[in-house]
Amino acid sequence: MDPVAEVDVEHEKAVAARAAAALVEDGMTVGLGTGSTVAHLLDALAVRGVAARYVATSPRTEERARSLGLAVEPFGSHEHFDVAIDGADQVVPEGWLVKGGGAAHTREKVVAATADRFVVIVDSTKPVPALRPPVPLELLAFGTASTLRRLAAVGPVRVRPGAGPSPDGGVICDYLGAVEDPGALAGALGSVPGVVEHGLFPPGLVADVVIGRGDGVEWRRVAGPG
Ligand code: A5P
Repeated sequence: MDPVAEVDVEHEKAVAARAAAALVEDGMTVGLGTGSTVAHLLDALAVRGVAARYVATSPRTEERARSLGLAVEPFGSHEHFDVAIDGADQVVPEGWLVKGGGAAHTREKVVAATADRFVVIVDSTKPVPALRPPVPLELLAFGTASTLRRLAAVGPVRVRPGAGPSPDGGVICDYLGAVEDPGALAGALGSVPGVVEHGLFPPGLVADVVIGRGDGVEWRRVAGPG
């Protein structure tokens, strides 16, 4: 039997989300990521009922958070968040992440970079020994065909089938080539004019990775900001 098939992924997401929600206290400013694991986080925060101030990385997170009674504010002039909490598609032991399966990686990276502590919540299927494609990309809508031609020098990239524009009007694509050296690839993708953001998140951005495993969590400290 496939061992992955036995993992109760939704339960593990909820377990990791509850553990991270416990970090949020009255008066904190909190960045909220996007995705199915974050949906569990929002539930857990609503149950906790702390008086925190939240900023959302996507319209769908904002809508769900508000429907649960969480106080969502515009990004506005926030200089920092006490904590940002978000899911990931892949995480390696060194702390590199791939994000953007939900096409929200640009806003997610901005919010993560603004947080004193960026906490990643995942189920036990997300840790991998080495990053692999796809790596999500957001391209400026202006000149997309030209940007795609330049990206071809880095590796194969395709516009994500069925993906509409990002909330900021960007074109969602996926890099499908090898990910042998994440730092080098991040540099190569980020240096192409017209690439708004890629889904490679470096370990320096990540403070903690909370992995749901069965009914418990494995809590990994990473390099973190600064
Ligand atoms: C959203 O764009 C992504 O970065 C998500 O955080 C990531 O895809 C994880 O999503 P799930 O929690 O749904 O697996």
